[in-house]
Amino acid sequence: MAIIKLSNVNKIYNNDVHALKDIDLSVQEGDIYGIIGYSGAGKSTLIRLLNGLETATNGEVVVLGEDFGKINNEQRRIKRQSIGMIFQHFNLLWSRTVAENIAFPLEILGIPKAEREKRVDELVKLVGLEDRKSNYPSQLSGGQKQRVGIARALAGKPKILLCDEATSALDPETTADVLELINEIHKKTNITVVLITHEMNVVKTICTKVAVIDDGKIVEEGLVSDVFYNPQNNVTKKFLKQTSFSSEKSAIQNVANWKEEFVNGRIIKLTFNNKNFNEPIINDVTHEFNVKLNIIQGKVDKTKTGYIGTLYTQLIGEDVDIDKVIDKLIKLEITVEVL
Ligand SMILES: Nc1ncnc2c1ncn2[C@@H]1O[C@H](COP(=O)(O)OP(=O)(O)OP(=O)(O)O)[C@@H](O)[C@H]1O
Ligand SMILES: [Mg+2]
Repeated sequence: MAIIKLSNVNKIYNNDVHALKDIDLSVQEGDIYGIIGYSGAGKSTLIRLLNGLETATNGEVVVLGEDFGKINNEQRRIKRQSIGMIFQHFNLLWSRTVAENIAFPLEILGIPKAEREKRVDELVKLVGLEDRKSNYPSQLSGGQKQRVGIARALAGKPKILLCDEATSALDPETTADVLELINEIHKKTNITVVLITHEMNVVKTICTKVAVIDDGKIVEEGLVSDVFYNPQNNVTKKFLKQTSFSSEKSAIQNVANWKEEFVNGRIIKLTFNNKNFNEPIINDVTHEFNVKLNIIQGKVDKTKTGYIGTLYTQLIGEDVDIDKVIDKLIKLEITVEVL
């Protein structure tokens, strides 16, 4: 069941800026849903709709079964207790300790002190900050501050965690740690995560699904492995260039050299995803038709929803046999390009 469903949503600021255009988006319970886009694309506007901080100009924003546009302030306040959020700049209270920051939402909910303290103890343990409870934010590293942000967001045991560029202020190693923490929390609690980013590596590391947003519109969406395997939109292709999966450019430059080096047969690029990976298919097919296969360059990437890979190969044999190999590979849903 969709835990978040947006239908035909538009957001126009001040009768002027059309920040979101006809957005349809469906997030299933347990998804780690990435939304990627350039600056100004409308990502923060979208995520603010999901916790009712912003209202849609028109369209439906159904979160946990109710349309944010059709409930009153009190219902909205209650609903927001089921939605935690973390921010790029952490938004911690500087005059409060780690423990007091994490307890803050529980105080607002009127949870008694003893219960608050118990919950804070669980949370500092969960995020690995047991020995930092009485520190102030200024005494913490960026990664530790975001751990406090995560603990605070989870204090009220929300069903949904929203992350707006939660790792953008962190270095790559700390980013990896924070993503790993979110991943662990997801595994333990099956919390639904919606995560905004402008980095495809973040999507690759942690997300199960992705939507690409450009100029207020969703231009592509799907399972991460499928989108990586077969991107349709130019913006998606541009974002994929940020990842190690897109060493396309250097490969293309190499092809000219390969053609001189590997004069026999044909040079062929194979692209496959988890559906056909991990089986000695290619070996079997070439044997079947008596074609020799020489691997020139290969690469396999891991996403949360499976493996994707590219293989540059030289096929040596009779032309008719090479054709048969290619036919067979296509039938196996491997993408074949003759270079
Ligand atoms: N409160 C507001 N009032 C008026 N215009 C706004 C408001 N918030 C955002 N906008 C405009 O809406 C558009 C989308 O902004 P938004 O902040 O959603 O983009 P973003 O994808 O989050 O960008 P960034 O990556 O820089 O954070 C921009 O043109 C922005 O100027
Ligand atoms: Mg933003």
